[in-house]
Amino acid sequence: HQEKTKVKNIQGVELGRHEMDTWYYSPYPEPYASCHKLFLCEYTLKYFRKKKTLLRHLAKCTLRHPAGDEIYRSPPPPANDPTVVGGAVTNPPISMFEVDGKKSKVYCQNLCLLSKLFLDHKTLYYDVDPFLFYVLCEKDAQGYHIVGYFSKEKNSAEGNNLACILTLPPYQRKGYGRFLIAFSYELSKKEGRVGSPERPLSDLGAVSYRSYWTREILDVLREHKASLSIKDISDKTAIRTDDVVKTLESLSLIKYWKGDHIISVTQKIVEEHLKTIATQKNIEIDLNRLHWAPYR
Ligand code: COA
Ligand code: NA
Repeated sequence: HQEKTKVKNIQGVELGRHEMDTWYYSPYPEPYASCHKLFLCEYTLKYFRKKKTLLRHLAKCTLRHPAGDEIYRSPPPPANDPTVVGGAVTNPPISMFEVDGKKSKVYCQNLCLLSKLFLDHKTLYYDVDPFLFYVLCEKDAQGYHIVGYFSKEKNSAEGNNLACILTLPPYQRKGYGRFLIAFSYELSKKEGRVGSPERPLSDLGAVSYRSYWTREILDVLREHKASLSIKDISDKTAIRTDDVVKTLESLSLIKYWKGDHIISVTQKIVEEHLKTIATQKNIEIDLNRLHWAPYR
């Protein structure tokens, strides 16, 4: 088990129009590590001790998005979008950027330092070369505002499709974590393989994955009238078989027969389970708008 990290140093950060209280220690270099508060450029994630210095940086900084390739852009809202109320769009346009840890080293290191403020266990900060970073942004007239991200090893020996995941606190509990998890599985599907998140998961990570797996597996069972094997479910969802089994167990939808797993479910039970999770926030991924090829 990974050891707990040190006592929290930085108490707050200012990022774009957000002020956030931090949760955990992060190894920013000195003298930044001894600051009560840091001021961050929301585009480069560079950090400053004084607002004045940040403003000086922003006056020169021309970047308005993460330092990578835009690989996904949400579809424009339909003409009579029910989420458009009185002219205000409540579902802002979003984009995903792929950033290579080797090509954009400083940006990715800055991202890791920022995310450690909200992660309890140790994670990488400086050795970012072996990772790709998928950065989720909300877009408005000013630019692309970072919402969260996940990282992914370029070559994972354990078959992990996600190393670290974060939704920044002002954006949490809106379905973005679920979107990021779903995105990581869509990339696995494009690679033609199954994946699983790196362990250990935080409590919030575990809750989010359990919720995602439950919904995906129930949807597949509904669509296929339940006549599926564990392997079938895994193939369709890119969720690793042990995660499928664990999820089915938690729903009491699995039995053992002579050492084999048997899915034991009726359509009625599937519908009932789906009803209890109907309130889940779900930001759809339009696969026609995902432009991505596996890393090589
Ligand atoms: N308490 C209880 N449930 C919570 C929760 C909270 N504070 N935050 C999220 N959840 C649940 C949601 O209700 C949802 O479940 P549902 O779909 O069954 O309703 C599910 O988790 C996902 O919610 P969502 O809004 O999509 O996630 P999010 O954008 O808030 O992001 C994390 C989830 C884990 C990415 C976010 O909490 C985070 O960044 N935490 C800090 C970093 C971390 O721990 N990362 C994981 C490392 S393994
Ligand atoms: Na794993």
